[in-house]
Amino acid sequence: MGEQLQQEINRRRTFAIISHPDAGKTTLTEKLLLYGGAIHLAGSIKSRKTQRHAVSDWMEIEKQRGISVTSSVLQFDYGGCRINILDTPGHQDFSEDTYRTLMAVDSAVMVLDAAKGVETQTKKLFKVCKERRIPIFTFVNKLDRFGKAPIDLMDELENVLGIRSCPMNWPVGSDGRYRGVFDRQTKLVELFAADETHGQETRTSQKFTLDAPELREVLDEETYQALLDDITLLDEAGEAFDEKKIACGELTPMFFGSAMTNFGVQNFLEEYLRLAPPPAVRSSSDGDIQPADERFSAFVFKIQANMNPAHRDRLAFIRIVSGKFERNMNVWHASSDKVIKLAQPQQFLAQDRQIIDEAWPGDIVGLFDPGVFGIGDTLSDESHKFRFADFPVFPPEKFARVQAKDTMKRKQFVKGVEQLTQEGAIQLFRQAGAGVESYIVGTVGTLQFDVLTYRLKSEYGVDIELVMQPFEVARWLTYPDEKPVTPESLRGADRGMFVYDRNDRPVLLVNNEWSLGWITDNNPSLQMHTVPPDRKEI
Ligand code: G4P
Repeated sequence: MGEQLQQEINRRRTFAIISHPDAGKTTLTEKLLLYGGAIHLAGSIKSRKTQRHAVSDWMEIEKQRGISVTSSVLQFDYGGCRINILDTPGHQDFSEDTYRTLMAVDSAVMVLDAAKGVETQTKKLFKVCKERRIPIFTFVNKLDRFGKAPIDLMDELENVLGIRSCPMNWPVGSDGRYRGVFDRQTKLVELFAADETHGQETRTSQKFTLDAPELREVLDEETYQALLDDITLLDEAGEAFDEKKIACGELTPMFFGSAMTNFGVQNFLEEYLRLAPPPAVRSSSDGDIQPADERFSAFVFKIQANMNPAHRDRLAFIRIVSGKFERNMNVWHASSDKVIKLAQPQQFLAQDRQIIDEAWPGDIVGLFDPGVFGIGDTLSDESHKFRFADFPVFPPEKFARVQAKDTMKRKQFVKGVEQLTQEGAIQLFRQAGAGVESYIVGTVGTLQFDVLTYRLKSEYGVDIELVMQPFEVARWLTYPDEKPVTPESLRGADRGMFVYDRNDRPVLLVNNEWSLGWITDNNPSLQMHTVPPDRKEI
């Protein structure tokens, strides 16, 4: 198997597209599928109408989850490569789900709207990629419209994100008069034919050398001169292409194009596949796990419940790290210390889910989950027991007291809340001294509360009462000598709310940094942690 395993690894590219809503992530994904031959006409992944990003519309998308989820992991082939695109949820609000997806990829494509440059959501997602030191490829989109000057966008990447860029191609023509791209490696100008299909079909183009008389005939003098000047400037003053710097996320290869009108999409795809890394090693309790290790291993990065309301199923998405995955194989599940049979594995292609028989490192497989899996869980060969390094966690910033309106529904309420906690959508706390009738729920954004309300109602039939709490900061508390921290032992515990997390670890919720300062000053031996003390923070 060794040789086949290595071949399968070499041809895999697993990545996510990160962007601010509306920059063109969905359109670019569609176009990659179009060029990959996985769909025939663009516009078919999701109905455009379901793509609005406001909360209410996002709920609509969730209602049609059969569609939105099957398009959240896409696999297709191009030029001998097997490509896995992991979609990061596109809604406005900050979501942990998005970040976890980034834990499962080997590189990222950052889409920027040429007119808007680097936007808030891009910054947050970029930070996670940067911390993981994965290669980041930049696609500057919407070149068919008026936008910022390419040089200014390069400056913006450096000043706002702190990453230098190396343009792989350069736009020919600007401000809506975009004609094509100059490929800096082949030194060829590629001009695109007029689009008569509104981007629904792949686009034809013609290539010219810079000094070709035909090029001079079709480009006006001003555009041609501007291109020559830019090329000279880039060659003299631009950052040199450096594969090592790209590999560790210090330099981003930059591409220009327009996803909607299919400008530069194919060139981007080909260059991306050439430069992007195959599946990477992962650190674990047993050192680095190499993809070519024949012993199977994988980790759970996402759990999605009730995707099909008719079946109330729950899928755990795993990313394969090493070895070959086979249907019905037995694996060791680290968290429960049990051997589990992996039946009915699923893979995703555009709108179809299909049962698969085998998969390789870099691939994403959806497993039917009877409720045993948690985010970050390790699955491995029975002969090789270890755990992958824990996922980093996010400090919660919003808190609400939550209880079932109808106390008779308490059982369903607890089940639903536990489920969402296991999926990683919310963090659960219990107030010291309070009864078990209510929980304190912590999240990283307010959208999660809407999701909580909606899902408890639609999936568990429970109406909840939700009262926002004025806290913005949570701190896990310890003493150096492992003496337990209790509300009584803490001076100023009443300045916030003393709660326990799911593992009964003490946590203090306070309004602001000022209150935190007071607690610190008055409890000299107290240690405070922004996330549970055994976890790493993002
Ligand atoms: P997102 O997933 O990043 O949120 O963005 P999405 O692809 O949904 O694109 C957001 C809007 O930008 C869409 O317009 C889309 O058509 C448009 N768009 C994407 N790429 C390009 C491009 O290269 N050039 C131009 N001019 N527009 C582009 P919409 O009005 O929201 O939808 P629709 O009415 O066009 O379907």
